[in-house]
Formats: sequence, structure tokens, C-alpha cells
Amino acid sequence: MAAKSGIKEIAGAAGQVLNLIAAPRYGGHLRPRQKTNVQTRNLINGEWRDAPSGATFEVTNPATDEVIAKVPNGGAEQAKAAIAAARAALPGWRALPAAERAAPLARLADLMLEQREALATLLTREQGKPLAESRGEISYAASFITWAAEEAKRVYGETVPSSRPDQRILVLRQPVGVVAAITPWNFPSAMITRKLGPALAAGCTMIVKPAEQTPLSAFAIAELALQAGIPAGVLNIITGDAAAIGQVIFADPTVRKVSFTGSTEVGQKLMVAAAANVVRLSLELGGHAPFLVFDDANIDAAVSGAIKSKFRNAGQTCVCPNRFFVQAGVYDEFVAKLAAALEPMQIGSGLDEGVSVGPLIDDAAVAKVRDHIDDARSHGATLRLGGKIFSPAAGLTERFCQPTVLENVNTSMKVSHEETFGPVAPVRRFTHEAEAIELANDSPYGLASYFYTRDNARLWRVAEALEYGIVGANDGGPSTAQAPFGGVKMSGIGREGGRYVMHEYLDIKYVSIGL
Ligand code: SIN
Repeated sequence: MAAKSGIKEIAGAAGQVLNLIAAPRYGGHLRPRQKTNVQTRNLINGEWRDAPSGATFEVTNPATDEVIAKVPNGGAEQAKAAIAAARAALPGWRALPAAERAAPLARLADLMLEQREALATLLTREQGKPLAESRGEISYAASFITWAAEEAKRVYGETVPSSRPDQRILVLRQPVGVVAAITPWNFPSAMITRKLGPALAAGCTMIVKPAEQTPLSAFAIAELALQAGIPAGVLNIITGDAAAIGQVIFADPTVRKVSFTGSTEVGQKLMVAAAANVVRLSLELGGHAPFLVFDDANIDAAVSGAIKSKFRNAGQTCVCPNRFFVQAGVYDEFVAKLAAALEPMQIGSGLDEGVSVGPLIDDAAVAKVRDHIDDARSHGATLRLGGKIFSPAAGLTERFCQPTVLENVNTSMKVSHEETFGPVAPVRRFTHEAEAIELANDSPYGLASYFYTRDNARLWRVAEALEYGIVGANDGGPSTAQAPFGGVKMSGIGREGGRYVMHEYLDIKYVSIGL
């Protein structure tokens, strides 16, 4: 049963613990008061540690610029200590039966759901997304752990018939070893658990380097992991100098796997770095999702799918549609209904009731979104809705972008080629199915794609023709722990979720038995 939490927050001063106090109620019964200490220090070998130099950096609320906490500006030394802790913890953790690794993971998922309100509030404060979305993210984040804890018990090997009478062939799957996860700011909880769940469930130990903008959610999850009984050293968290930490991760042969979610540019650099020790990589990189609406679509469903996929997290997701292609017969209706549905959306601090569009994460994001809108307009695009980046109320930053609809879009514009990462929907008309497929596939990226049709034959044809790792066919929200998430082309390597995810953290060993 879902928990409701009464929360009290005591904001911490520099380097101190942030106390999130939640009193969950189950079926009307008040449980004993729970206190989650959200640390503002790095977790290494089960201990919370400051950077050896004492250096810190500030974590701020993008809606207000309020300083929420100061966290360690760790570097090479702490990265080495974290890897050493993960290495030392590996033999014990790997040796546990799968069910014994699954048990504390399941407890961690339960604790996250019990503390959902406190975790969601913290997430909104450091990331900006509306509280309703943050609550959804905490449930989504917990679901990756639950799924992986269950899958851990189903890591099957194989026996294969041999061509020799005196041989038996056995295929084992074993944990890859120490894993490093480098995670983004747009989903500060879910992108950690999407990696942590399967890595730990498979028997790996890990270090997590969360994004500088959103480390507090990582610390909160780590605190709950300790409470859930994950042993010291199995999970380590370090914040700080990304270049220095990255260098240590790729230089140390102990680290056998790196899982990264972020930009294609950084992913390419990691591929080069991984060559030194031939480290396995999972890369969930940029996208440039097309969204096709055919004449035979249910337009109301297409509009609500467009809003769900494009305007989630103010357009700051890798799976957000970036290019809308609408068939001529329904173009006017779709654009009119989309604009009408977007206009009333409330823009403001994610902590305020009723808000559905929060701030962009930082000034660099603002500059990029503004540049994309200006560039499109200077190349002939017209504004159907929005277009303004502004401060919606006193005390709020100027990082809020109106839901924006651009028409008369063509391929000369940046919005047609680059990920905008903002609430901007560029819309273009098409005539034939083949043209739509060609436009949709005309991208070096291949993460998510979407289309709407009520024609069953077209549904199969288009789903098969789209060169993307994820296809939402009449579905604006395909992401779920049970399904493989990941891209083709420059959108990455590997899959997270579904039964496929465990293989990202397992090596195959072939044992040939001579009789
Ligand atoms: C992402 O934007 O990287 C993740 C989005 C999702 O899981 O749906």
C-alpha cells in the first residue's frame, strides 16, 4: 500500500546532514516517526567522508538559486578509495546466494517508497521538476530495484550438446566485478537505480558518480541502502571533479564496467577512455526523437501522448520528441489541439501545487533553448505558442521556458538536427507514409520514436521501419522497468530494464568438461 508522509525538512548548513523527517501512514495508522538523514558527504566503504582537501561545491535549487547544501568536491584520491572499497567488498557480495543479495535490495525499494514524499521533495529542490513528477520518479526508481532483485534469482546458465562424446559444455554467467556508474541530473534517482539495481543484484559492487547538479538524491538513496542492509563498500558514492574521477575510473583495471547516461559527446570520450583497459560500457546517450501523427490517428490520444512525452521534465529527457511530423489531413487539428492543451499549463516552482512546468536546470540549458528558438525563427519558423524564457514570479530565476510550438520548420534549423532539451515542439507537415519514415530516420540518433495511427497494418510497418531502440506506437510513455530501454546509432550501446539488463552486468564463462 502506498505511504503518505508528513514531512518536515531542516535545511542543512554547509557540509551538514539534511534531515528529512517523514511519518508515513499506512491505512490511516501512523507508523513510528522515521528520520532519513540525507548526508552531504561522500559514501566510501560505509563511511560518510568529506573531500580530503575539505573542498566543497554548492547544490542549488534551479528555480530560486537557493543554496540547498554544500557537498564534497572529491577528486582522484576519493575515487581511488571508493574503488578500493568496492574491490574489497566484491568477494563477499558476489559469493552470496542471489536471494540473499535480492533481500536488501527489495528492502531498499520498500524504504524508497515509504520515504517517497521526502525523497520527491528533495529531488524537486535540487532538480526543479514538479513534485508530482518527482513522486512518479521515486516510484519509477524503486521499480528498477524491485525488478532487478527479482531478476537476480533468474540468472540462468546453459548446457549445450557437444559434438564430442567425451565433452560436456557448460555456460555460466558471473558478475563482471567492480562497476562504475556515471549518472545525469535529469532523473537524479531513477538513473541511479536503473544501474544500481541490476549491478548489485548480479553480484557486482559499485561506485556512483552523480551529476554535480543533483548529488543529494544519490546520497539519500545511499543512506537508505545502508539502512536496508547493503554491506559497506558494496555501494560507494563520490561527487566532485568529473575529469579527475573519470580518469581514475578508466585507469584502474579493477573497474570492469562503466555505465553512463548522458550526452553523446561525453559518451564518445568515454569510449576512447575505455579502450585503455578494454572496459565494458553501457551508454545511454542523446536522442532526437521523431513523433509522427498519421491521418488515421486518434488526434486526442496523439495530443495527450505528445504532452506526456515532450513536456515531461520541461522537455529535459533523452526520450523527448524533438521533431513532430504531422500528416496534411490532420495537421491543423493536431496543432490547434496541442496549442490549446499547452496554453493553460502552469509554469513555476516545482514545489508549488498545480505547477506542471518547472525550470530548466541551469543557465547553459537556458542559452541552448533560447538559441534553438531564435535560430528557428531566424530561418523562417513561426511561433504558434510560447517562445518566452522568463521569471514567472518574484523570487524565481529566469530559467522558465513557456511550452512552445514552432511551425514552418525546415531542415536548415538547429531544432531539426540537435537535441533541444527544453519544452519546444517543432512541427512539420508531411504527405505520405514513406516520406514520414524518411524524415523520422534522417538522424544520427536512434533512441526513442513515437507514432500514432489506427491502421493495424501501418502500425506494424512503421514500427518495423523506424530505426530506433524504442518505439511508442500509440504510446507517449513507453519507459518501464520491465522493458529494454536503450538506443541504436549514436544514441548508445546496451539496454537497461527488462530481462536484458542483467546481462549488462554479467560475463559469460564457458566451461568445457572432459569426461
Ligand atoms: C532519460 O531521459 O535519460 C530517461 C528517460 C526515461 O527513463 O524515460
